[in-house]
Amino acid sequence: MTKRILVLPGDGIGQEVCAAAIPVFEQLGLPLSLDFGEIGWECWCRGGDPVPERTWRQIAVSDAVLLGAITSKGKNQAEAELVPELRGKGLTYTSPVIQLRKQADAYVNVRPTGRIAGPGKPFRMVVLRENTEGLYVGLDRRGVPEALRTLLNNPNLEKSGPDDATYSVRLLTRWGLTRLFDYAFFYARANGFDRVTLADKANVLRESGQFSADLFHAAAATYPEITIGIENVDAVALRMVTRPETYGVIVAENMFGDILSDLAGGVMGGLGLAPSANIGTGTPYFEPVHGSAPALAGKGRANPSAMFLTIALMLEHLGFVAAARSIREAVRATIVRGRTVTYDLGGDASTGAMAEAILAELKSPTPLRRACILSVGTALLEGRSVDAVAPAVARLLSKGGYLVGLHLTCGEQKAAIGNALTTCLGQSDLIAITGGSDALRGAVAATLGIPADFSGTRLDWRDKVIYLLPETSDAAVAALEHAL
Ligand code: NAI
Ligand code: MG
Repeated sequence: MTKRILVLPGDGIGQEVCAAAIPVFEQLGLPLSLDFGEIGWECWCRGGDPVPERTWRQIAVSDAVLLGAITSKGKNQAEAELVPELRGKGLTYTSPVIQLRKQADAYVNVRPTGRIAGPGKPFRMVVLRENTEGLYVGLDRRGVPEALRTLLNNPNLEKSGPDDATYSVRLLTRWGLTRLFDYAFFYARANGFDRVTLADKANVLRESGQFSADLFHAAAATYPEITIGIENVDAVALRMVTRPETYGVIVAENMFGDILSDLAGGVMGGLGLAPSANIGTGTPYFEPVHGSAPALAGKGRANPSAMFLTIALMLEHLGFVAAARSIREAVRATIVRGRTVTYDLGGDASTGAMAEAILAELKSPTPLRRACILSVGTALLEGRSVDAVAPAVARLLSKGGYLVGLHLTCGEQKAAIGNALTTCLGQSDLIAITGGSDALRGAVAATLGIPADFSGTRLDWRDKVIYLLPETSDAAVAALEHAL
């Protein structure tokens, strides 16, 4: 059955990334129909409502909404930018994003991240943020009532007095948490994750923390194949940055999830890359994490990748899993080649040019195999000997169809080898290591987290291939030639 998608480009670069990425639908030829509608700041200024009635009617008959981005401004500016006949009428601006979430009853915000290119170990990590309760439930007030004051018994409050203090409520409900955790485990299984971590703060928020933990365990019971963890949110933040590859799905209440999901976007490489989905009982909507970026708007410089990855997320949700995968692969290949990328990825391509490169990659995918050479040897590093092996290995790899993108030389210390190998892992499919001492094997094993007793030339680790080549050039080339 044909699925109906409503595209709402919105404001600023939202319009540009939509225009650039929309041709992907025609190219994929899926049973989808596209409608276009209006939303955002212009609608507010002209009509006093950022989501016009007509748009709501379009949403009501759609299977999914694809949003570009929205501009929101402060209260006074909102009033000032209304057309004159609407000013002074007491109209209030409510963020369309909040309105959309409400209609969708979007209880979970999905933010998948992963390493596309760049140094570091490969990772795939998804933050699921609760969206309808928690600390953002809306009870945030100035003036502490007497009953609460007695309960709190806080010396700071006594010094300030109840009127010079505010309080906020973190509401967690069995209903809200159960549906969130059920979704987290369903999502993990459907997307091949073997680990779900609840990020909370049970050592401080003891009652609500235990309450969450109990419901989390209950939801986990029907997913015996999935490993679970409950960790403090601050520790999760630290480890997300240092070892993101140790996580899979991370689930959290509203505010903790808000913070962690932005952090995850940063770990991934920035706003130009991060997609998101809002899933609930109403019409789900999908949007890049970035906003309308007014300073960038109109210049054609915005990175369209986040929009392509958002479309992939939407297609996956609608059941077009293969199409979603092919879009992700095309984005990855375009970024890895690095020839046609926008400024935020170090290039100077326009939004349109990068989008065309992605579409071309999607149309005729050319296998992209990246290789990296790591020469290990203190004498090499110090210039006491010349690396004859690496050029020979590079020639061979290049002849074998590999894009040799990186050549590193490091000393023989375990830490140096570990750092260099970690740098290679994120940006290569094949890593050729030359200089085969026993210490080298130990360092490689420690970095990959595998037993040190492996033998032979070839090591398969996740989707990477690592070759440990002999020290002399002839032997190295012979070993690699044999292995390739
Ligand atoms: P922003 O995400 O629009 O931009 C922040 C900075 O990130 C930009 O200046 C730019 O340097 C970079 N950036 C963002 N997207 C990029 C892309 N695709 N390619 C390359 N670089 C990119 O956030 P900001 O500046 O805080 O907000 C601007 C407007 O967007 C505000 O009106 C805000 O309310 C709105 N906003 C809307 C969101 C939404 O539609 N869901 C989310 C966040 C902000
Ligand atoms: Mg946020």
